[in-house]
Amino acid sequence: MLVTVDIGNLANAKDLGVSQTISAAALARVPDQYHDPDGQWVALSLRARVFYASIDRVTQTALTYEDIAKPEWKGRLCTRSGQHVYNIGLIMTRIAHWGVDRTRTRLGAVRDNLSRSPTGADRDCVKAIFDGSCDLAIGNTYYMGLMLTNEAEPEQKAWAASARIIYPDADGEGTQVNVSGAISAKYAPNKENADKLFEFLLSDEAQHLYASGNYEFPVVEGVEPSELVASWGTLKADQTPLIEIAGHRKEAAALVDELKFDEGPQE
Ligand SMILES: [Fe+2]
Repeated sequence: MLVTVDIGNLANAKDLGVSQTISAAALARVPDQYHDPDGQWVALSLRARVFYASIDRVTQTALTYEDIAKPEWKGRLCTRSGQHVYNIGLIMTRIAHWGVDRTRTRLGAVRDNLSRSPTGADRDCVKAIFDGSCDLAIGNTYYMGLMLTNEAEPEQKAWAASARIIYPDADGEGTQVNVSGAISAKYAPNKENADKLFEFLLSDEAQHLYASGNYEFPVVEGVEPSELVASWGTLKADQTPLIEIAGHRKEAAALVDELKFDEGPQE
């Protein structure tokens, strides 16, 4: 079994021909959009790519992905590299909804609204909110839980406490979700045991463990997220099938390069 994050990584594994079909019993545990139609990959948990908003400097309680392209955000946004799979996943989803041309325009405007060149990881962007150098960051939900409970690096609790989560497009087509997931390796010598592990990881019991240990959303319907995650509000997930989103990964990466997104604002 190969366990990884991101629909692009899972789709790549299938395209490279290194996977084999996962047991039907495991696949049946998740909604159709969260497993490959040919049974070559399956999601194990969900994460939403959301906005971290400064509690002190952002008044809005609802925003869309399109809103952050507006001039009022000039010099106020921060994010990690546009080529990171988390941002590529978000851009792929925008291409699925908007097409390439509208996505190019909006992504260029977001680049010009950045307070600095894309750098660091999602947690570093929340630190920038704490520092006052950024008002709104793009990040994955579970980092909020990991920071708020971080006993090893307790300074992260203060970073997280300076921000609140806004679920983009919560009133519209829904917030973009990506997955952690797995494939069954094509030449795996213990395929039957792999299938047993898939079925366990998608059991109510293991889904509950995932949800409470990593602050992700269960992919199995009827299993509740952790209390902390639930306290951020209800996730309304974008329902576009992941297989359709994954088809846009080359276009998304090309746009990031074309716009020189990682060089920061051009104007
Ligand atoms: Fe992560």
